[in-house]
Amino acid sequence: MISYQFLIDAQLHPDKKPDFSAYPFCLPAVRHLGRLEFDPAVTFIVGENGSGKSTLLEALAVALGYNAEGGGKNFGFATRASHSCLHEYLRIARGVRMPKDGYFLRAESFFNLATTIEDLDVGGAYSDRSLHEQSHGESFMALLQNRFRGKGLYILDEPEAALSPRRQLAALARIHELVQEGAQFVIATHSPILMSYPEASIFVCSPEGIRQRAYEDTEHYEVMHDFMANPRGAIRKLLETPKEP
Ligand SMILES: Nc1ncnc2c1ncn2[C@@H]1O[C@H](COP(=O)(O)OP(=O)(O)OP(=O)(O)O)[C@@H](O)[C@H]1O
Ligand SMILES: [Mg+2]
Repeated sequence: MISYQFLIDAQLHPDKKPDFSAYPFCLPAVRHLGRLEFDPAVTFIVGENGSGKSTLLEALAVALGYNAEGGGKNFGFATRASHSCLHEYLRIARGVRMPKDGYFLRAESFFNLATTIEDLDVGGAYSDRSLHEQSHGESFMALLQNRFRGKGLYILDEPEAALSPRRQLAALARIHELVQEGAQFVIATHSPILMSYPEASIFVCSPEGIRQRAYEDTEHYEVMHDFMANPRGAIRKLLETPKEP
């Protein structure tokens, strides 16, 4: 079977000399990027707040021709150029096939995007209701259900921000459907539910750089697992004030 893997790996271009003392190259996840090998189906980028996930995803998306503000490739709307220069320093290996569709989702700019979609009068491709008449989660699910297709490349930054736990499970089921139709996903997330996708590659951005981890070895899984095993006990321990001697 011919592989539909669109993204193979990404690394810093060996011929370029970035300034490692300044953003974005000072971030360990960028400085020690190494060779980030993408899974043919789903790759998760996880890590603490501020570890560089969005910086990496945005650079990847811009290097691939997506608007830094998010959207498909046909969204050429002008916005403030706030993205870093990292995209100019990435060397990306791609598969032999080009994706038939693609999308870069930045959760925080979805509102902007909803406006643009409606201005372009292509809202019907997403849902029969205006995206502005739907909640954040409803409009994201409409995007996932009606706009995303097989053989597409989807770069999503914290898609769980909009979703209830039940909808996160529904999103996983839809992602699986799209993967079976040849789609590839790169997803930055804090969600232990999304990260559970079987066989996905999980990369953790840490102060030491980027490391691949098994699902059960991630901090997300451990913290959530321990908390859910005994929520009252965990909260008691957390809020316990040390007694005066
Ligand atoms: N334009 C910028 N100039 C300087 N530093 C920046 C800039 N944008 C982001 N940073 C810093 O780079 C670091 C990584 O930011 P980034 O948004 O990539 O983190 P993240 O892993 O996506 O975090 P979160 O989980 O909170 O979304 C942060 O410390 C942030 O303050
Ligand atoms: Mg982020």
